[in-house]
Amino acid sequence: MVTDQLDQLRRDAQKGLDSAATTNELSDWHARYLGRKGALTDAMRQLGALSAEERPAFGKAVNALKTELSEAFEARQEIVRGAQLDARLATDAIDVTLPGRPLELGTLHPITQLIREVSSIFAHLGFQTIEGPEVEDAYYAFDALNIPKDHPARDVWDTIFVQSESREIVLRPHTSPMQVRTMERLKPPVRVIVPGRCYRYEALDATHEWHFQQVEGLAVDEHLTMTDLKGTLAEFARQLFGPQRKVRFRCDYFPFVEPGVDFAIDCMVCHGDGCRVCKGTGWIEILGAGMVHPNVLANVGYDPDKYTGWAFGCGFERLAMLKYGITDIRAFYQSDLRFLSQFDRATA
Ligand code: PHE
Repeated sequence: MVTDQLDQLRRDAQKGLDSAATTNELSDWHARYLGRKGALTDAMRQLGALSAEERPAFGKAVNALKTELSEAFEARQEIVRGAQLDARLATDAIDVTLPGRPLELGTLHPITQLIREVSSIFAHLGFQTIEGPEVEDAYYAFDALNIPKDHPARDVWDTIFVQSESREIVLRPHTSPMQVRTMERLKPPVRVIVPGRCYRYEALDATHEWHFQQVEGLAVDEHLTMTDLKGTLAEFARQLFGPQRKVRFRCDYFPFVEPGVDFAIDCMVCHGDGCRVCKGTGWIEILGAGMVHPNVLANVGYDPDKYTGWAFGCGFERLAMLKYGITDIRAFYQSDLRFLSQFDRATA
């Protein structure tokens, strides 16, 4: 009779176990049959009600059933876990054939790239790259450069003045003040280039920025002549714009050089025939230059009878526009990634 009860219990338990499909159902089942208040614990309690003869056999049968169900439980648990894992793998599957997500890497700004390229060209010609202040004393921006106060040439540089009680302070409108600062610090021979930001009070349009970058070049030594200037600039232009570039020097006026020149290369678009880029002239002016004015040499304490020098100043945005065929200078400083990401040439 009691053994029948145990058989019934075994059948029920087995059926329940077979239909348990989740870990929750499994733990419910475990509590119901094998737990502290479960069916097998109840069965053990019935021992007391049995006669002394019946007890050992019943006790043994209950223990055997307990072992049997525990093993069945563990086996079922394995199966349920395996099935759950399979289901998860099927839904969360990683498709290794999908293309990876590209890492967005930043790139150097095109002007920064060009500054590095120009510095490297001049480094090979023996020039050191240095930098100077953007907020500048008018003495360096003008007076020491042979542009005294009230000199009409000051109008050429539409200067932004910074409020100051005692001294005239400006945002430098060109990098030329660094000619003076460099010569004050160094003894000849001097060979430097100075890239850096400049500012002018200028209305913004496709070819004018109120903020831009220039590079100044300066060489001072004994016996330097216009020939050195011409040779160096021609080499620079050919390294930057191609070895077949023709160059042209024409007279120009800057108060801090004498003689002064404007330097042009033949148009790389039409090769001199005349087109929109060179405005029909066949030539593209890329910088101003000249022999350092004796007054400027004297202002820094160099002996103008012993030393001669040459200098040039050149806008990077203009160089970049020519080199990359960009028609609007404003593109450089609008932080538009569609524009900037086109210059992802890897530079160190
Ligand atoms: N500083 C001049 C400018 O900004 C360029 C220049 C530099 C000309 C050096 C001659 C010599 O226009």
